[in-house]
Amino acid sequence: MAPISQQAIDAIMNASDIVDIVGEYVKLQPAGKNFKGLCPFHSEKTPSFFVSPEKHIFHCFGCGEKGNAAAFLSKYKNISWPEAMKELADRSGIPLELDRKYGPDESFQRYYEINATASDFYQLALTNSREGKPALDYLLGRGLDLHTIQQFELGYSPDSADQLYRNLKGKYQELDMLQIGLIKKNAEGNYYDLFRNRVMFPIKNEYGKVVAFSGRLYQKAENEPKYVNSPFTEIFTKGDTLYNLDRAQPAIKTAKRVILYEGFMDVIASVNAGVKEAVASMGTALTPTQAALIKRFADKVCVCYDGDEPGFEAISKAIPLLEEAKLDVSVLLLPDDLDPDEFVRKYSAEQYRDFVANNQVDKYEFKYQRLIRHADLRRAAEVERVKLELFRWLIDSKSGTLVHIYVDKLANDLHIDVETLMGDFRAYGFTQNLKVTQAAERGRAGQAAVLDRNYTAEVYLMNYYFQNVEYRRRIEAELTPYFVQDEFLKMVLIEAQDILEVRPSADLVGEIARRMTGDRKREFEKVVIGKLDYSEKGLSECITTIKSRGFDDRIKELETARALLDKSSPEYLAKSEEIKNLRKGRENLWKKTKS
Ligand code: UTP
Ligand code: MN
Repeated sequence: MAPISQQAIDAIMNASDIVDIVGEYVKLQPAGKNFKGLCPFHSEKTPSFFVSPEKHIFHCFGCGEKGNAAAFLSKYKNISWPEAMKELADRSGIPLELDRKYGPDESFQRYYEINATASDFYQLALTNSREGKPALDYLLGRGLDLHTIQQFELGYSPDSADQLYRNLKGKYQELDMLQIGLIKKNAEGNYYDLFRNRVMFPIKNEYGKVVAFSGRLYQKAENEPKYVNSPFTEIFTKGDTLYNLDRAQPAIKTAKRVILYEGFMDVIASVNAGVKEAVASMGTALTPTQAALIKRFADKVCVCYDGDEPGFEAISKAIPLLEEAKLDVSVLLLPDDLDPDEFVRKYSAEQYRDFVANNQVDKYEFKYQRLIRHADLRRAAEVERVKLELFRWLIDSKSGTLVHIYVDKLANDLHIDVETLMGDFRAYGFTQNLKVTQAAERGRAGQAAVLDRNYTAEVYLMNYYFQNVEYRRRIEAELTPYFVQDEFLKMVLIEAQDILEVRPSADLVGEIARRMTGDRKREFEKVVIGKLDYSEKGLSECITTIKSRGFDDRIKELETARALLDKSSPEYLAKSEEIKNLRKGRENLWKKTKS
């Protein structure tokens, strides 16, 4: 049975103005009968997202997303379709009761009630019992005051077998207490408390209902975990929950971002320091559900995990997940391996606020900082390691801009000349590409790499071609006149031949650059390497790469043709023979180049 009647759906959809609704989230401008704007579901620079008031739909011609107002809300806010309908109904003042399954889980009311009572019990035990005094002293000793302790409803679970159980018994059913993991049953059939002698953190869902608890050790204890958490229950899945999301919502709205921490104490320290848009993933690796949950409340997230290696690793894993949820991600790296709680204690609340405001970095900078953070850049071996790791990353990134930024940065951090480092980078890039290619020749997986390698060889060849007439002669002698396949390089080559026809001794690079403008000029500047270690051997490698591509193409053609033939036919055998010879030819080509 549909959760909402067709009648109700019709009424709600009729009352909803899609331009109004979408317009709240996307800047729309009139475009004929329609409206257009930048698509919120994929990133674009020119609008291909259209809203039709006539048809009551939106449609993005860039990514293909389309649908009505409810589909928009559901997709945009990451909520279920019934929840989106509910929101539309509320906007137009149409009464709609959702089946409890679809809304904030009211069916679990009795579980929430038990948890709320348990939380009160724990709180009282912390502040109003002699037994709870050491736990309270522990929290005060960590710099929390009573106000904070009350704000976060921190508590204490007594060091007894069944105090909580005895307290709840009579008011609630044992089965329910078992279901939410507050008590367990032993072999003799007696009930006992799960949490004992721990500082208690109630964990609430985004609607402010206590769904679970976490209990922290506050004294030294051998072989005991630092935190004990409620088990997975009908109302609690750790990976679906973000600590403090209920209380953080107003601050998130104002700040238009979420700061994501690892732990309870980090959130508490952050809120205490005045940075209140704070939630925690609670130690476990961030999940896609948690990322989607963040997206429901903000478009921006700043990850602030512990500044140690596990923290860094967790950040690296969280970034793509958050990006997948279409969140704009930044990272806050605290100095000296501190966690936020330690930072506030070592410096001050004010310094923490300043730090958050001024030290967020993007994912690239995070990666760079992680790389050099613990490297001793006075030692040559360390420098080499960092250098190679950076180069590998830059080559993978395939971005000229990143190359410029980070080669510059590293040169600066190493106190060496940028051109020297750039020279190293180019040399590395070239050998790397050749290596990748040779490996790829054996497996199909490397097809992209081969393309890359071919392009690199073309770029290098162009640079040899620019360099002097001797190199030009050799290239022309060994390769076809149009030895490049890349469209832009082909154009550059034609331009060069044009110039040389009139003035054989022309300064090619300068002359070509003068003939170009705008994007083309910029692209040309990227192609010109300038300070390259030119050598006959380097040129040979490039030429061989291009020749080898000729063999590759011919082999592929033959293989395709052969696939259509009967395996025992003479034509099949002839093609196989030819393929074998071509492979041999290709191999010899490389052997000759290497010797
Ligand atoms: P941390 O070990 O960083 O704890 O784990 P913390 O929050 O900084 O706590 P303090 O400062 O030592 O008191 C981060 C988070 O990982 C989860 C908890 O949610 C914790 O806040 N965690 C950690 C567990 O669930 N179980 C554990 O045994 C440890
Ligand atoms: Mn900590």
